[in-house]
Amino acid sequence: HGSTQKEIRMSTDIERKVGNLLNSSHSMGAAPSSSRSVSTDLGPKQSAITIKTVSSQQTDTSKEKLSVELKEKQELVQASDSLKEMKSFREKLPAFKMKSEFLKAVQENQVLVVSGETGCGKTTQLPQFILEEEISCLRGADCNIICTQPRRVSAISVATRISSERGESIGETIGYQIRLESKRSADTRLLFCTTGVLLRQLVQDPDLKGVSHLLVDEIHERGMNEDFLIIILRDLLPRRPDLRLILMSATINADLFSKYFANAPTIHIPGFTYPVSEYFLEDVLEKTRYSIKSDFDNYEGNSRRRRKQQDSKKDPLTEICSHISLFQDIDVDTNYKDYSLGVRKSLEAWSGVQIDLGLVESTIEYICRNEGSGAILVFLTGWDEISKLLDKLKGNNLLGDPHKFLILPLHGSMPTVNQCEIFDRPPPNKRQACFFSTNIAESSITIDDVVYVIDCGKAKETSYDALNKLACLLPSWISKASAHQRRGRAGRVQPGVCYRLYPKLIHEAMPQYQLAEILRTPLQELCLHIKSLRLGTVGSFLEKALQPPDPLAVKNAIELLKTVGALDEHEELTPLGRHLCNIPLDPNIGKMLLMGSIFQCLNPALTIAAALAYRNPFVLPINRKEEADAAKQSFAGDSCSDHIALLKAFEGWKDAKRSGNEKQFCWDNFLSPVTLRLIDDMRMQFLNLLSDIGFVDKSRGPNAYNQYSHDLEMVCAILCAGLYPNVVQCKRRGKRTAFYTKEVGKVDIHPASVNAGVHLFPLPYIVYSEKVKTTSIYIRDSTNISDYALLLFGGNLVPSKSGEGIDMLEGYLHFSASKSVIDLIRKLRGELDKLLNRK
Ligand code: CDP
Ligand code: MG
Repeated sequence: HGSTQKEIRMSTDIERKVGNLLNSSHSMGAAPSSSRSVSTDLGPKQSAITIKTVSSQQTDTSKEKLSVELKEKQELVQASDSLKEMKSFREKLPAFKMKSEFLKAVQENQVLVVSGETGCGKTTQLPQFILEEEISCLRGADCNIICTQPRRVSAISVATRISSERGESIGETIGYQIRLESKRSADTRLLFCTTGVLLRQLVQDPDLKGVSHLLVDEIHERGMNEDFLIIILRDLLPRRPDLRLILMSATINADLFSKYFANAPTIHIPGFTYPVSEYFLEDVLEKTRYSIKSDFDNYEGNSRRRRKQQDSKKDPLTEICSHISLFQDIDVDTNYKDYSLGVRKSLEAWSGVQIDLGLVESTIEYICRNEGSGAILVFLTGWDEISKLLDKLKGNNLLGDPHKFLILPLHGSMPTVNQCEIFDRPPPNKRQACFFSTNIAESSITIDDVVYVIDCGKAKETSYDALNKLACLLPSWISKASAHQRRGRAGRVQPGVCYRLYPKLIHEAMPQYQLAEILRTPLQELCLHIKSLRLGTVGSFLEKALQPPDPLAVKNAIELLKTVGALDEHEELTPLGRHLCNIPLDPNIGKMLLMGSIFQCLNPALTIAAALAYRNPFVLPINRKEEADAAKQSFAGDSCSDHIALLKAFEGWKDAKRSGNEKQFCWDNFLSPVTLRLIDDMRMQFLNLLSDIGFVDKSRGPNAYNQYSHDLEMVCAILCAGLYPNVVQCKRRGKRTAFYTKEVGKVDIHPASVNAGVHLFPLPYIVYSEKVKTTSIYIRDSTNISDYALLLFGGNLVPSKSGEGIDMLEGYLHFSASKSVIDLIRKLRGELDKLLNRK
């Protein structure tokens, strides 16, 4: 469900919207002269992410005139009193001292790497320095600076910030463009966009014509998009000698990037941060237990008892293990002979355990009662945890009082409006602010008034097990580099404090850096993108990466794309593959949409695809799990399908919404209205996409593609077509059923599934959306399907070994029937192939 990858490929509808915005945004700035209008050839078939300067269409004289105008305007604004304060703020940033050195380096080198502590002014100042320089050297008309951001929210916040630093409104000289949203105009000279948007642009404009400077930000994070982009850029540079590339990184491993670009020069911006004192779990316990009575009395009792037992061995590990088991319901064996093994084991043992929110609460309360009123930033792993903590604090006398305490959640998939509240918040005066954030606030967002950081030491991380073709998304320990970043967030305006809710030994055992995303993610979307950019064979292209992914992972991705039918046997894109490139989704989900439109099940396909691409609308309340399960079960009926449950829940919500009953309906059925609304929006986008690529003719009205939408057997067959090869076989084992996959053998059904309690399934196969490894290998969101669905919509058919029927190449199915039946099946499949591959 990673959202960054999804941005690689943008829906053409989104592009059109962006195009419209682009055209309408004139109203925001000064009225542009007609010669400065943006090209309007932004039809759905073309990429609208045209980051080309307006000036490319202008004559030399009007360019000169424009450059002079820009310079005059800049000088006027800079001299005005209104920006005095802003100016002195900017001049205090560490980046300011490096301004001339930086500009000189940009001028003299094609590639430059800049590193500096978070907050030193890289993102807001460096692109601005270039802009100001270009404008004052009368190159304003030709200058077109792009700065990429890994996350949507940072693109917006940074662009907005720079606009106000320049005394403009957003969308004038400074703009942003992210998936679904853009603010830019013909006057825009510096554009912030997500890395995904830029990658998308490369399809239409492989040489980035018209871009004068490209800044790639946050490369130290080693996101897949950034790693992908720099391979392309390294190849592009010789073709564009005039393009300037600036890589920006936190003070992590800048040399790595310099080496990658033939030892490009590096500039380091020495930063200034106030000292941040650091406490580990041991100290936090010590500190908090004096001030907080309630739970701690119990803990203390336990702890005393434990200490007595363990009096003889008082080494630090024992001490830590006792703390661990004090707070977590696990037993850590303290009798390790080998000390480092002991540490590693306790690290592993502890990594499966959820963060103790009680301890988080106590720590926040401790700060509120005993420390100053600076803002608190809490790092948690994800939305579930953030919302659990929000719930928990409602019952707290002090922290639950909104007059005294302001809580602001900060999470990547929050609507952008909410995210921006973080920056527009009124001065805290009496209320103490507290941010509950995922690692989004680690380096890409700066909240200035943070004085206290509470670090739980974990982040949700995807990992990919190429051998078992297994993707996992689990909270795991962050790296030392991340821990360092987190701590640094507390020292922006005054000396700060960082409370680490894990023992020091665990900190010491953390890996130095996080593994690059390209090394821990399934690669099918990336491979598809490589093909659509015509970058050669996937294998040899990816060998050029900073750290090339495991060849087995590449092979798996290619194999999957072949199974789906996106690549032919020569690894070239098929027409179906080309369609899938235009759908910003996992290729399997994309195929489900195409099948839904062909087989008249469009509505269900849209809903299920949107939910799979975004997130499950069912919430999992901690205390009322059984009721929640029952609600989900009642939607599923006897379908043995989580996907059908989801579909029915969505339809129910639609009805409830129409009758003004949305809130109650969601409450009763444990559904998230926010998620459902987003799913609804996404459905519309997908529909427009299907129309753009010619699979749906919207003029035929909303019911034209839904003849079988209420036929659940048909819907399940479409699910099979989309989710294949995610199939397990149900095998009878006495009174129960066991489930087998080809790759990993036996798997279990996830406990949250409606199929979790089913002993006997009516049909012999199950398709699933995701296989995850936690305590065991689980399949998530599953649907029971028939062998006919598999036969017609599954992978490749081959003559069976016995010669009396057909098998599935992947070995899921053996089907024997008369020759005429088999011929018929082959014919049907041939026709279907033609439909999917129509041009
Ligand atoms: O990119 P880097 O982490 O080096 O720093 P930056 O994002 O350029 O931020 C420099 C300073 O600008 C921060 O320390 C903040 O004080 C301020 N800033 C802000 O006030 N509002 C923003 N949206 C971004 C930055
Ligand atoms: Mg930055």
